[in-house]
Amino acid sequence: MIILRTVNDVRDFVSTAKGRGASVGLVPTMGALHDGHLSLVEQAVKGNDVTIVSLFVNPTQFNNPTDLATYPRQEEDDFKLLAKAGVSAVFAPSVEEMYPGGPDAQPKHEFDLGHAAEVMEGKYRPGHFQGVAQVVSLLFRIVNPDRAYFGEKDFQQIAVIRNMVKSEGIKVDIIACPIKRADDGLALSSRNALLTPEQRAVAPEIHEALKYSVEYSRDHSVRATHDTVVERLNAVPELQVEYFEIVDGRTLEAIDEWEESPYVVGCITVYCGKVRLIDNIAYRLPK
Ligand code: PAJ
Repeated sequence: MIILRTVNDVRDFVSTAKGRGASVGLVPTMGALHDGHLSLVEQAVKGNDVTIVSLFVNPTQFNNPTDLATYPRQEEDDFKLLAKAGVSAVFAPSVEEMYPGGPDAQPKHEFDLGHAAEVMEGKYRPGHFQGVAQVVSLLFRIVNPDRAYFGEKDFQQIAVIRNMVKSEGIKVDIIACPIKRADDGLALSSRNALLTPEQRAVAPEIHEALKYSVEYSRDHSVRATHDTVVERLNAVPELQVEYFEIVDGRTLEAIDEWEESPYVVGCITVYCGKVRLIDNIAYRLPK
């Protein structure tokens, strides 16, 4: 596995690979890798001749400076995990390499991300998805992958990236990968490392409440299902629901009746102490 630090080195690496007819898979990450990331990497390694993983804590998608400052970083450990997973190359650039002159010096470009970027995370983290679109489109232009892998844990992010790819006219297959969970059901996340032992012990309630709500939804309305999740979680000391929305899984439009869509997903964000955790669950899946 080779470690690439510059855009030019990535371009050379990819053009050599493509020159010999190799297909290229990209897994964008912000590092602090866990088994969730590695499940994406595994799919990429299986599905492509060459897999590139990017490790870059993108400052432009953080709207909270403390969140950026406390984001876990462990590059050496990440490199070891990726080498073991059969990755061909890691792209771990500096902020200056990605954004010459700093993020504020970049040409202003407003991405057309559609309705999917306006709701939920879009509402609570203004500018977040513009930052995600900025870095992901940059990575796509640098790497020019045939396929790129994203986790359904960030369900909304995938919808937004699909919109970005369409509006920017970028040719790449977006592959959505299922959520990887700890044995107790908590969705794996780099932020879990920030939980105290007490918080870590109650965090699995999030998935428990969502799982239970799928049963509950069979004979209850969308509204009642929504409320049962929010009430149950808010009753747990340390947990505070920021939002829970039950939406069409493609458009992310809120639904009022189960019959409104063949694909229904509940997306939640919960504060566990000061740590912001996100998760989701499908109520109906398209056949
Ligand atoms: P990051 O949070 O590091 O996540 C990288 C990828 O791993 C994302 O596609 C995310 O959905 C996926 N992932 C994280 N936890 C997962 C889990 N438990 N199961 C399955 N997949 C999981 O998402 C980002 O970084 C950034 O926004 C990025 C796309 C890299 C742009 O900066």
